[in-house]
This record gives sequence, C-alpha cells and structure tokens, in this order.
Amino acid sequence: MILYRAHLLWSASPTQLGEAADGALLVDATGRIGASGPFEQIAPHHPGVEIQDLRPLWILPGLIDLHVHLPQYEAVAMDGLELLPWLEVHIFPAEARFANVGVARQAAKCFFADLLALGTTTAVVYSTIHQAATDAAFQEAESSGIRCAMGKVMMDRHAPPALCEDTETSLQQSEELLQQWHGKADGRLLYALAPRFAPMCSPELMRGAGALSDKYDAYLQTHLSENAQELAWVKQLFPDCASYTEVYHRHGMLNARTLLGHGIHLEATERALIREAGASIVHCPSSNAFLQSGVMPLKQWREEGLGLGLGTDVAGGPTLSMWQEMAMACTASKLRSALLHEQAAVAPAEAFHLATRSSAQALGLQSRIGGLEPGLDADFIVVDPRCSDPARRTEEAAELVLSRLLYRADPRMVRATYVRGRRCSALDL
Ligand code: GUN
Ligand code: ZN
Repeated sequence: MILYRAHLLWSASPTQLGEAADGALLVDATGRIGASGPFEQIAPHHPGVEIQDLRPLWILPGLIDLHVHLPQYEAVAMDGLELLPWLEVHIFPAEARFANVGVARQAAKCFFADLLALGTTTAVVYSTIHQAATDAAFQEAESSGIRCAMGKVMMDRHAPPALCEDTETSLQQSEELLQQWHGKADGRLLYALAPRFAPMCSPELMRGAGALSDKYDAYLQTHLSENAQELAWVKQLFPDCASYTEVYHRHGMLNARTLLGHGIHLEATERALIREAGASIVHCPSSNAFLQSGVMPLKQWREEGLGLGLGTDVAGGPTLSMWQEMAMACTASKLRSALLHEQAAVAPAEAFHLATRSSAQALGLQSRIGGLEPGLDADFIVVDPRCSDPARRTEEAAELVLSRLLYRADPRMVRATYVRGRRCSALDL
C-alpha cells in the first residue's frame, strides 16, 4: 500500500471537473484505489502507510486512446492525400512490413513505450492482418504494463495482394488470437476484432466477425463514414443497404462492444441504429483534419445520447498524444461552430471527459477506469503543470491548468504513468 499526496483532478460530469487541492490517493496491494480525497481526511485512517509526497505535482486519471493503429506509427505525418489514396500510398506498404515478426516486435516496443510516456494508460489498437505480428504485439503490450484491447486487421477483398486474406483464414486466426489473449493478464489485455471497413470486407467476413464478438463478449472495432469517396464506394458495393451503418447492422456488427471510428457524415436513421445497439462512435478529430475528412458534429452527437470516445487514429492523426487530441477536439468544435453558427463549442473539461470517463463507458469499463474513485483500478498519471505554464505556476484554477495541459502539452509534463498501481513509465520522480 502507498499513499500519494498531490493535487487530484478528475472528470466529475460531461462538463465539470472534480478536484482535491491537497489530495490523497491510496493504492492498495492489488493495484486498486483504496481511498481518495482530501489528504487531511484520508491520511488519519491509514496510519503507518508509506506516503509519497508528490506536491506540487498533480494526479489525473490515465488517458484512454480508443482508436489507434500500431503498424502505422512509423508512417505518421505524411501529408497531402485523402483517405483512400493515403491508404494505398503510405499505409499499406507500412502494414505489409509486419509480415516480418521482428519488425512488428520492435515497432510494438516503441509504440507502447511512447503511449505510456504520453500518459495513455489504455489503448484500443489495430495491428495488421498478420497473426504472428499481432501475437508479438500482445506480448509487448503485456510486458509494457499498458491496458490494451487489440486485434488483427481483417480484410478479404479490394486490399493489395500482400494484405488480402482468405475469409476463413482471417476468421480462424482472429479466433485463435482471441482465445489466446482476451482477458489475459487478469483482464488487462482484451481482444478487439478488427474488420477494417465495409469496402474491404466481404459480407461473410463481417458476419463472422460479429458472431465472434457475440460468442466471446469481445470488442469489435471498425471504421464508419469518414470520407466522401469511401461513402460513395460503400453505396456502390452495397446497393441494397439504405446507409453505411445499415451495412454493419445487417451483418451483425453492431453491439454494445462495437467501437466505430470517425462517424462524421451520419444520417439520423444511422444514429438511431447506433444508439439502439448501444455501440459507440470514436471521435478522431486530428485524423479528420489531417485527411480532410470533415468535422464531426460532436456537440450534436452527444446531445442525441450517442456513446462517444476519443482516439488519435495514428497515422491518420499525426501524434500519439491524447493531450493534442483533446485540444483538437476543442479546436475542431470551435471552427465548426464559428463557420456554421452552431451551438457553443466544447471546452477542455468536456474533451477531458471524452478521453477518460466517456471512453471508459464506451468500453463498458466505467467501474474499472476513467476516474480516481475508490474501487477503480489505479490507472493514473502524475503531471507537472509548470511545464505547460510560461509562468511556472502550480496552484491555479483546475479549468485553467487543464486548458494549458491540452493546448500547451509538453513532452516533460507527464512525470509518471501507472497502470493498476504499477509504474510503467517515468521521468525523474
Ligand atoms: N479506413 C479504413 N482503414 C483505415 C485506416 O487505416 N485509417 C483511417 N483513418 N481510416 C481507415
Ligand atoms: Zn483508423
């Protein structure tokens, strides 16, 4: 058991922050939060417990990246193309290199280390079609200490020959990996089936992926309604479906564990299908800007009660930083509301809620992660607010500190990252 003394900051509601200025976070031997709140209230109940005084640092819940592509990390920031040509020119060649397990393992080491160093404690990851590379990536996730849901990409048509699978093989290898990894490390590693998107999946593959998600209670991640050319292609391939979302609905891919990347250009009927299934949309604002895909109406989707989370979508987004992703969620929302004279834009507290509580909820893990309450797993980060403040202040209004952390994120500001109480990454604490 250890008691950390610091300024605690968490998301209390979609728009409000919670804080304990002189706070205490008690982490028990099992890696859970045993108590949290004002230091003067907590400490007397735990005499003799080791105290680590982190003041003037702040403790926040670990950040959750709900959509990110491991093999694309080396292909970030390749500007100039929209989705479909970008996949052909930059992304598929990078993914093809994962046929070599050694390449995949090395990439996975860097990927998970960088996520943790940036304060991301949970990531939902696409690997490539390769079974061995995905297995190696799971091994690296396991040893890094990160919480991770991952799956091998599934695609059995319209993909380049080096990355196009046989339908049966794709389903069989996915099931083998799922049986091997789903729930491993006491539930820290989970499987997320990954049929890439409708244009590259046969109806049989989509049906099979949906069935595996149902059978094993595993996540299912895919891309939905991102780009105009993609939408036209889906319409042409599935003329009997009234919408892109209906393609997934008809093939049994929409359930409460479904994570739909992007979801920008959705009709009301599509939103209704998603809501009824209890599926979630993963907002990827950096990627949506980088690939010129559009600006998702975040405020509207939230007001309609859609499940929502936040993802970097590397390499669609140019960085693994969820700080920058939160800032981009605010910026994109402001630009949208200014251009279209819509409702007020989202504030940093709302972006923080998306990256913590709301993403935890999308995973059905709200009783495990996303906050600092007793009973949750001790997934938290130690942050130095001085790094993002030109005046090096430490004790200011929580809204202001959070706003600077987002808009002025600094590589040195995440001083340590803990998952289930285990320190997985640290600067000089
Ligand atoms: N749609 C299908 N595959 C991808 C991908 O790898 N990245 C993005 N952003 N969209 C996709
Ligand atoms: Zn993606």
